Amino acid sequence: MHILIIHGPNLNLLGEREPETYGRTTLDELNDMLLQKAQEMCIELKFYQSNIEGRIIDFIHENRHWAHGMLINPGALTHYSYSLRDAIAAVNKPTVEVHLSDIHKREPFRKISVIKDICIDQIYGLGIQGYFKGLEQLVTYLKETASDEKL
Ligand code: DQA
Repeated sequence: MHILIIHGPNLNLLGEREPETYGRTTLDELNDMLLQKAQEMCIELKFYQSNIEGRIIDFIHENRHWAHGMLINPGALTHYSYSLRDAIAAVNKPTVEVHLSDIHKREPFRKISVIKDICIDQIYGLGIQGYFKGLEQLVTYLKETASDEKL
C-alpha cells in the first residue's frame, strides 16, 4: 500500500514555528516517526513539503498512479485553496486532512476548510498524534474498500 504524506506551507519550520501551537517536534523527526510506523504497518510512504501551492499540486498529479491514498496537512491552503481541492478531487484518492492545532478553536478563518468535504476525515488538535491516527484511519479505509486491486 502506497501513501503520500504532504505538508503544506510553513510546516518546514515545525519545531521552531510557534511551538506553543504546533509543538517542538521538527518535520524531519515527524517524518522519521511516520516512516517507522509505516514499516510496522508494512506500507510505503512518500513525503513532500512545499511552501508553494502549485508544487504541491504537481506532486499530487505526478504521484497519482503510485498512490493509493493521501494524508495531507495543507497548512493555510486548507482555508482557501480551491486549486488544491480540485487536485485532490481530480486524482480521486482517499485523503485524510490533518492539523496539529485545533483549527475550530482559533481565528474564525481557520474554521473553514475548502477540502474537508472531499476528505474521508478531518483530524485536528491532537498535535503529531493526529498524523498517526490519520494514517491508521486511511489504511483501515483502504483495506475495507479494496476491490481486486492488490494493496
Ligand atoms: C495548521 C493550521 C493552519 O490554520 C495553519 O495555517 C497551519 C498549520 C495545523 O496543522 O494546525 O499552517 O494546518
